[in-house]
Amino acid sequence: MPPTPPPPGEPLLRIAGVNHTFGTGDAKTQVLFDNDLEVMPGELVIMSGPSGSGKTTILTLVGGLRSVQEGDIQIWDARRGDYRSLRGLDEAGLVEVRRLIGFIFQRHNLFDSLQAVQNVRLARELFPGSDPDRIEKLLTYLGLATRMDYKPAGLSGGQRQRVAVARALINRPKLILADEPTAALDANSGLAVITLLQHLARARDPADLARLVQRPHEEDDGSGRITPEQAAMLAGLTAEKGATSLIVTHDARIMNRADRIVHMERGKIVSNVVVAERLFVAEGLRRCAFFAAILPEQQQAIADGVCIGQHPDLPVRGPAEAKYAGKLEVFRPGDVILRQGDPVTDASRFYLIRRGGVRIDRDSGDGPRTVAELTARDFFGDRALVTNEPRNATITATDTTEVYTIGRETFRRYEAISRPFIERIAAVYGSAALG
Ligand SMILES: Nc1ncnc2c1ncn2[C@@H]1O[C@H](COP(=O)(O)OP(=O)(O)O)[C@@H](O)[C@H]1O
Ligand SMILES: [Mg+2]
Repeated sequence: MPPTPPPPGEPLLRIAGVNHTFGTGDAKTQVLFDNDLEVMPGELVIMSGPSGSGKTTILTLVGGLRSVQEGDIQIWDARRGDYRSLRGLDEAGLVEVRRLIGFIFQRHNLFDSLQAVQNVRLARELFPGSDPDRIEKLLTYLGLATRMDYKPAGLSGGQRQRVAVARALINRPKLILADEPTAALDANSGLAVITLLQHLARARDPADLARLVQRPHEEDDGSGRITPEQAAMLAGLTAEKGATSLIVTHDARIMNRADRIVHMERGKIVSNVVVAERLFVAEGLRRCAFFAAILPEQQQAIADGVCIGQHPDLPVRGPAEAKYAGKLEVFRPGDVILRQGDPVTDASRFYLIRRGGVRIDRDSGDGPRTVAELTARDFFGDRALVTNEPRNATITATDTTEVYTIGRETFRRYEAISRPFIERIAAVYGSAALG
């Protein structure tokens, strides 16, 4: 059977209710507390958090390097076309799970008696039939062309780390787990590794890659560049997309390139933000006069509180009602979202259109008339929450429409800051404002 991706909208990795305890008796300490996380195929996920917060423990559980005690972890197995649950697996089952995964861990466990190229070949032999040139290509891309026949003892820490990266990626795993993969690397190598992971995940804008490439006679400003030779090799190494990476790192240069940033504190995932969705919502808020008046950090905190999904270009799937309660609503064509004359209550909301479109009808005494059509990135419903007057228009979905929603309580919280500003620009909330 050819490898199959997860069903549309379903994650590649699902962590649900995971607790973990080390030791027994008096020495027993719980280090993970009720963790949930879903990672979509082709996402680059960065996990951050203070030392001791449980990042490595989660990674080793996902990797089948320890047994799941409570909760469940499921990984999509593309060859079987089904999820594998790690809960209750015996050692033989865990070994099978490990074969789905590429590990880049700090203790890189290279075989001391084998050359760099042999260390990578050993991993490939688990899956005979893959492109034999790929080992040389990967090692060359990673700057090890002249080190292929060195044994680990003859390599620097950073070089050993890069051999471990090649070994992790040689079998084209669909899930890559990396614990501080760039900690021992210089700026060029770190960028080369993260760019490789990005291009294994999904196709990227060529202009983004071009910006990373060193130009002739360019001074190295310390942020690192990849060479034109490395850039040229990338397409051949990453023809097959869809690899998901879960990377523990503190490296700010890597964080900037993540699709999702997950933060842990004291054994718990305390925030989980999709970078493109956060940007989408924060930009939407900034276009609304009420939210334009508050600080960027406050706009960002509101955006982080609601942002969901994988990317604003992709529809959310599944039962939005239960999953995204209080953050996102999905309407069908013809559904009335707001009705003219409805009073403001504690359940009233502000709406930012994520996908789809709405029609605005207003009745000024002589029958309803369409006054506007709105689409993705437009917003409505703020006027009534600012003025506390009834809704001044009826808003109907014209398409399958996803809207981010922000409740009245958020308006109350920021009212003191926003109000003076709003009064100065009172015209914004005159009769022209919608909803
Ligand atoms: N094998 C172990 N036995 C006992 N305690 C452990 C073990 N591994 C980690 N811990 C403890 O679990 C907590 C989380 O550790 P870890 O997952 O390594 O955190 P991080 O990777 O975020 O630094 C820490 O308090 C650490 O001391
Ligand atoms: Mg760690």
